[in-house]
Amino acid sequence: MGALSSSTIFRKVAMALSGLFLMIFLLQHFLINITSVFSADVFNQLSHFMGTNPLVQFVLQPILIGGVIFHFLMGFVLEWQNNRARGTKYAVFKGSANASWMSRNMLISGATVLAFLALHFYDFWVPEIKHKYIDFLPEDPNRYHAELVHKFEDLVRVLIYVVSFFFLSLHLLHGFASSFQSMGINNKYTPLIKSFGKLYAVGIPLGFAFIAIIHFLNH
Ligand code: HEM
Repeated sequence: MGALSSSTIFRKVAMALSGLFLMIFLLQHFLINITSVFSADVFNQLSHFMGTNPLVQFVLQPILIGGVIFHFLMGFVLEWQNNRARGTKYAVFKGSANASWMSRNMLISGATVLAFLALHFYDFWVPEIKHKYIDFLPEDPNRYHAELVHKFEDLVRVLIYVVSFFFLSLHLLHGFASSFQSMGINNKYTPLIKSFGKLYAVGIPLGFAFIAIIHFLNH
């Protein structure tokens, strides 16, 4: 790591922090969506709040979208730097094979998650924006659950979602591991945090798959 410039380290830390931020978003996104399996009422209330609260809509939502774009662009910058460095400096690093394997996996799983996000925005976010800010339809606080369930009536969509969640899990597993390398964190809590990371990386995508499959089976 000694050969890395300080701007590369800065970018790697920024990458890790933006990844952590997106993981926090994903956890709250999961906690809200899982309620749709147990109670249409609770899910409608939470969605109505998130969909109409100005702080969420005009502050948190733009920050989130900025975070996604930042993470994506920074990923490309780091990959480009890796490729440039490989063959010269990287050849002498032990563990270089592992570094390139990791970054290739992050690119493939990241691209899959991005493709999923395009579909997901088309499914939920675009109709939401159209409903509220283009068609100016009256707000019905009870519409959210039916809209969500309707999306998961389609087997092909459910399959695409579930496959994407598998890649999301890989992305989170690798991302979590590499963020530890980037930040050079190593103390007595490291093994515990790493185990938590693995649990999160497998558990959250599994939970999302559960939501999609349950709604498909219940329709
Ligand atoms: C079964 C799984 C999922 C369900 C049911 C679901 C549901 C939704 C719904 C209903 C919205 C619209 C929110 C709105 O704008 O009113 C939404 C937005 C969004 N979802 Fe998901 N989601 C799922 C999985 C995911 C995953 C795995 C990711 C990330 C990898 C993700 C990222 C997003 C993002 C970034 C938005 C836009 C956030 C915003 O509206 O500000 N979702 N999702």
